[in-house]
Amino acid sequence: MSLIDNIDKKQLPLHIAIIMDGNGRWAQEKGEDRLFGHYQGVESVRNIVESSAELGIRYLTLYAFSTENWSRPEPEVNGLMILLANTIRQEVDTLNKNNIRLRLIGNIKMLPEYASRELLEAVELTHSNTGLTLIIALSYSSRWELLKAVNHIADDAKNGVLVPGAITEEVLRTYLTTSEFPDPELMIRTSGEYRISNFLLYQLAYAELYFTDTRWPDFGKEHLYEAIINFQQRQRRFGKTAEQVMPNTASDAH
Ligand code: FPP
Repeated sequence: MSLIDNIDKKQLPLHIAIIMDGNGRWAQEKGEDRLFGHYQGVESVRNIVESSAELGIRYLTLYAFSTENWSRPEPEVNGLMILLANTIRQEVDTLNKNNIRLRLIGNIKMLPEYASRELLEAVELTHSNTGLTLIIALSYSSRWELLKAVNHIADDAKNGVLVPGAITEEVLRTYLTTSEFPDPELMIRTSGEYRISNFLLYQLAYAELYFTDTRWPDFGKEHLYEAIINFQQRQRRFGKTAEQVMPNTASDAH
């Protein structure tokens, strides 16, 4: 029996978000350049996107490049931009064949022109697909997103579009880059770091967090299945008591 048989298809996380960490260390441990790790990381991206679509996951967000990553050495940043643009261009047909819709979140204006052009074109070419929504977080950070939202809200309040004091959680959500997507229910971080690193800070409020020591280039389908099985074994209470969410269980869970 394979791990996939232990997954309850009726209790899949609606949205999985992943911090794909460890490419650089994976490469350096092999005596290779960090960029080699990112190239291998693309293979993991392919595997995880494919298995998410096969399982029937509706939304998958991948943290591909953070606002802070711009301060990495120039050759690594340039190499990553070329890799991202080329990968997406090459994958458009496969995305369409698998009914996958590509979306981007982040400050795309910061990207070199050739990269933003390729990426936005891929978004356009896949926009009518109705299966998995693959969201790539690029030049993204939560603090950037929240500041952008606050400034936009302040402008709209000044211009009479919003009434100060009457801004609800639902209204705030419409100003986030993720306004069209449900919050992630499962957040996975690879490579043994226990941090959120400025990723979807608002949206992850009630996500189940899953950390694994596996480096991203080694993270394959079976690792994803393990994370989902682990998620399905947890009790999600959203601030309520165990008895409220599962009336027939003991009261010692936290
Ligand atoms: C983190 O590892 C990884 C990145 C900053 C880049 C992730 C990008 C890819 C996998 C490329 C392709 C992506 C798509 C969506 C096509 P790290 O360099 O921080 O590793 P380290 O912590 O070991 O240094």
